[in-house]
Amino acid sequence: STPVEEIPLNIESPQDIGFVFDIDGVLLKGKKRIEEATDIINYLSERKIPFILLTNGGGMTEKKRIDFINKTLQLDKYPINEDQLIQAHTPMRTLIPHHKRVLICGGPKDDVREVAESYGFEDVIRPIDIIKANPTIWPYHMFSDEQIENWGKDPSITKLDVDMVNCKENLPIDSILCFNDSRAIGAELQLILDLLNSENGVLGTRRTEKSSKPSIPIVFSNNDFLWSNEYKQPRFAMGALKIAVLTIYEKINGKKLEQLTLGKPEKVCYDYAHHILIDWRNVLLGKKSPGNLCLPKLNDAPVNSPFKKVYMVGDNPESDITGGNNYNWGTILVKTGVYQEGDFELNPEISRPSLGVFANVKEGVMAAL
Ligand code: G3P
Ligand code: MG
Repeated sequence: STPVEEIPLNIESPQDIGFVFDIDGVLLKGKKRIEEATDIINYLSERKIPFILLTNGGGMTEKKRIDFINKTLQLDKYPINEDQLIQAHTPMRTLIPHHKRVLICGGPKDDVREVAESYGFEDVIRPIDIIKANPTIWPYHMFSDEQIENWGKDPSITKLDVDMVNCKENLPIDSILCFNDSRAIGAELQLILDLLNSENGVLGTRRTEKSSKPSIPIVFSNNDFLWSNEYKQPRFAMGALKIAVLTIYEKINGKKLEQLTLGKPEKVCYDYAHHILIDWRNVLLGKKSPGNLCLPKLNDAPVNSPFKKVYMVGDNPESDITGGNNYNWGTILVKTGVYQEGDFELNPEISRPSLGVFANVKEGVMAAL
């Protein structure tokens, strides 16, 4: 392919164009780099062309993931800044002012507690903390004694008493935030449904009212139904847990659950990303310093965008391309991930990229430039 030095830059101001990159299947394949990604990211950074990363993945702090990406892509000269990364759960940091005591669901291990605390949530409760306080709440849990000992916070700290006699002493939980794929689906389903149907988020209580509005809000970080690993068929992801939650909630209430879902292809996620891309452009123009980017409000679209064109570069037509097309961004589909040649013939209804399908991220960005 064309060496990056020879890519013509046919735009008056490099800051008028922006790129939003998906991670898995575009920059990385599993834990390995997609080689062409290194070249093109260096090219954009050197020319101060604004770009951010937008992934439906999560489970670690933005800092840890960016360090991993910089190392894996060998971006020693122009490392990507953590401000440029939006994971599925990143926008949840906007909820902090009204959500003090939160149940954080999903795995892995205890890492998501660290993520929630890094966002500034004051009182983070994990399912394992509740099971530590009272294992009878979900007696089929699969946590080992060692995990409960090491990862579960002591009830004297969490102020959890899920015993039916003293349940009123439990401090109410303000909201349920599903950060990442569940590693304990049974336990999480039970606890989520308990809280959605509780009296104002107090564990051990049960409201009498049936409503589409849950007792406390629930937010899912993404709606991906499947993900792919080494196994030959795709595996269930958060979207599958969400279906289970919605179905059981409707069985109890006779009404559909009101909830919020973030992540691609939801507009709320693209609005958030658009704000961050605009602000990262301000950093490149010297108007802002890294670490001081805006904290966009959820569902608040930027009023004026300085970009003449923004491109979403992704490997998944259902999330990256659908979301980008709906948002009126240009879209670039690459062949290095989920999308396989022949998919459009097999599933004619899936979203098509506006700019085209390219062998890899470098080819796609070159075409856009
Ligand atoms: O939820 C699955 C995750 O691997 C998707 O990541 O970067 O392709 O949005 P990404
Ligand atoms: Mg992807």
